[in-house]
Amino acid sequence: MSERTLTAKITGIGKALPEKRLTNADLEKMVETSDAWIRQRVGIRERRIAAPGEYTSDLAARAAAAALAQSGIAADQIDLILVATSTPDTVYPSVACLVQKAIGALHAGVLDISAACTGFVYGAHLAWGMIRSGLAKHVLVIGAEVNSAIVNWKDRDTCILFGDGAGAAVFSVHASDTEGVLSAKLGGDGNLTDLLEIANSGVRPNPDVPGRYITMQGNEVFKQAVRNMSECAVCALDRAGLSSNDISLMIAHQANTRIIDAVARRLDLPSEKVFVNIADYGNTSAATIPIALCEALEQGRVKKDDVLVLVAFGAGLTWGALTLRWA
Ligand SMILES: CC(C)(COP(=O)(O)OP(=O)(O)OC[C@H]1O[C@@H](n2cnc3c(N)ncnc32)[C@H](O)[C@@H]1OP(=O)(O)O)[C@@H](O)C(=O)NCCC(=O)NCCS
Repeated sequence: MSERTLTAKITGIGKALPEKRLTNADLEKMVETSDAWIRQRVGIRERRIAAPGEYTSDLAARAAAAALAQSGIAADQIDLILVATSTPDTVYPSVACLVQKAIGALHAGVLDISAACTGFVYGAHLAWGMIRSGLAKHVLVIGAEVNSAIVNWKDRDTCILFGDGAGAAVFSVHASDTEGVLSAKLGGDGNLTDLLEIANSGVRPNPDVPGRYITMQGNEVFKQAVRNMSECAVCALDRAGLSSNDISLMIAHQANTRIIDAVARRLDLPSEKVFVNIADYGNTSAATIPIALCEALEQGRVKKDDVLVLVAFGAGLTWGALTLRWA
């Protein structure tokens, strides 16, 4: 290894999506809503729904296998598996343990991350830190969700928004001062827990919400998302000695096209520098960023030396941004 700084670069990326599509027209038959309203206010056309018996670990393992195949790194070379999810098959074993078994990554440490929709960016930051410090060479970071299991299908405020899916990336050691992950910034505000919650998902009951469902104060979440994602992206760029003019492509959490547009406006980014695929999948929580990055690469939207900003926002509240120069 040279004298250059150790950092992490992405050597492989993959995604897994359930086959079943739930369109806006299908939702019109379930709740008082319309295709026009959903497209205009949120930007979603359809979302994927896991089949009966298809769980988060199944999607996570498929995405992980695809990422590993692309990286050319053998499963037993992975030092750590981090799975960001709010919909684990079980509290324990973790989804990371189940993925380890499925892909045969028997030398890896295994850990789930609870940071809601920001989970993949939190995982990427942790992977970078482990690799940078010399504690790991290859870290598999996965965002995977079966949101359909925690959506109240009678609540039109939330059920139109979410979908199921998984994305995974292999972060590998790279000796460079200018390529790979350049900077990151994580944040959160525990004073705002009640804006977005899954009631009855832990040991504390919430008698006001029947069942284990997502509840949300949509308007307030919207404002917090725009402000914190844009400020966090600027902070991460600043830490890398960059400004928003240097961004080649922003891959933001896919929760609402109007949120992404507002963040892009604040960063003064034209639409060709913003990747959006929410129309096809809805909000897959921790999975939106790796799925979007995977598709941006498939579509040839990412070239060597491009500066990417990954920026996310979620319940907690949590937020985070990562900058990287594609290598
Ligand atoms: C949820 C969200 C799409 C609602 O959009 P909005 O423009 O804020 O809409 P409002 O809540 O102000 O509602 C506007 C009107 O549409 C109605 N409406 C709400 N949901 C509807 C639906 N699914 N279909 C049709 N009409 C709907 C409301 O009842 C309201 O009607 P009114 O004007 O007669 O009272 C938006 O607030 C949002 O995206 N918030 C962030 C959500 C998010 O990203 N969560 C996850 C974060 S990780």
